[in-house]
Amino acid sequence: MRAVDIIQNKRDGKILSKEEISFFLDGYLNEKIPDYQMSAFLMAVYFKGMCKEELEIFTEKMVNSGESIKFTGVENFLIDKHSTGGVGDKTTIALAGLFASFNIGTAKLSGRGLGHTGGTIDKFESIKGFTFPKSKEELIKMTNITGTGIMEASNKIVPLDKKIYALRDVTATVQSIPLIASSIMSKKLAIYSDGLILDVKVGSGAFMKNIDSARQLAKSMLDIGEGFKRKVAAVLTNMDEPLGLAVGNSNEVIEAIETLKGRGPKDFTELVETLTAVALMIKGDVKDLEEGKKKVREVIESGKAIKHLKDFIEYAGGDPNLTEDYSLLPRAKYEYLIKSGKSGWVQGIEAEKIGKAGMVLGAGRETKEEVIDHSVGVILCKKTGDPVKKGEVLGKLQYNNEKNLDTSINFIKEAFTISDKKTLEKKVIFEIHTVNI
Ligand code: URA
Repeated sequence: MRAVDIIQNKRDGKILSKEEISFFLDGYLNEKIPDYQMSAFLMAVYFKGMCKEELEIFTEKMVNSGESIKFTGVENFLIDKHSTGGVGDKTTIALAGLFASFNIGTAKLSGRGLGHTGGTIDKFESIKGFTFPKSKEELIKMTNITGTGIMEASNKIVPLDKKIYALRDVTATVQSIPLIASSIMSKKLAIYSDGLILDVKVGSGAFMKNIDSARQLAKSMLDIGEGFKRKVAAVLTNMDEPLGLAVGNSNEVIEAIETLKGRGPKDFTELVETLTAVALMIKGDVKDLEEGKKKVREVIESGKAIKHLKDFIEYAGGDPNLTEDYSLLPRAKYEYLIKSGKSGWVQGIEAEKIGKAGMVLGAGRETKEEVIDHSVGVILCKKTGDPVKKGEVLGKLQYNNEKNLDTSINFIKEAFTISDKKTLEKKVIFEIHTVNI
């Protein structure tokens, strides 16, 4: 077999055999096939795609390129919720408390923020003393004791994805649906869970800018899940504006806590209620979404959800009292208010610009090496559909030094569109698709 023939077959739109895909991926992993041939192959996939069978074989090879984690001895039903990324997405923090309230274990590897989007690991690390498990054994112990198992993603899981992703990044092949689907799903399938919820973000602040491409990505990931006989739900949700009101690390921890106390923003509350209800459907505890959401509201009202989050924080080495006293979290020294230049209705808030406004203040990093400031960020005071008067505050910047303050202010001003006409609030949940449920 020759690499060049496999590239040619894909270029000509042929369906590759298991042997061809295995030969190509093994060859690349073992450095027998060079980057330039893999680049050509990726471009051929970008244009010709992969059918369901090819995608399954491709993903299986990715999964088997590294270690897997099996939660042996964990009794809870395990669910991994994955978001394709956005601004203000503190969902994992809130779900930790909610899932544990229903004896559903969170089983997931999370990442750090890069560019305008944040990362769960950074958000939890706003909590002084909070330490993530360092090994599989520690992760399993944490899941058994608290019901929540979150660890930082390592290069040992799906090393082939890391290698291929680096190449996609410099060959304009990141935006290929089968490549995105296999990249995400390989990392999810390497961690054993009973069910998988994919929060596929749609909109200006997301990878998938419109509903059609989000649907295609969801379908590809569900196809892979079906092939692997996993219970998978794909929930298509809005990322045209930031999720909730808080963006930044300790800010987002506070908003997740407030949500578990029943005082969260409307859109974020709806998202966590829906995702937990979907988890209950996967587990088989409820027959439909409405029954699930009702149960979620009950555990929030009873105080059970916040109690579980406190236990998780304490187990990981943080002070659980911070859920009552936010001064125990890092807070920025100064605040700058951005006021509206005109009256009307908020027509839109570009998520990416709000993310960048926080990032330049130090809440996020442009390169992997940068150190972040957990205390800074953005608080939105208006959301799409809200009426606004001239001079009213649209958002607040929380900062520690003035270095990039002007840049940040400009990002916020550019992010808001104020219209003379009444506008409607954004829909939060678009569609839910499932397999094996
Ligand atoms: N996230 C991933 O993990 N992989 C992609 O290809 C895109 C987003």
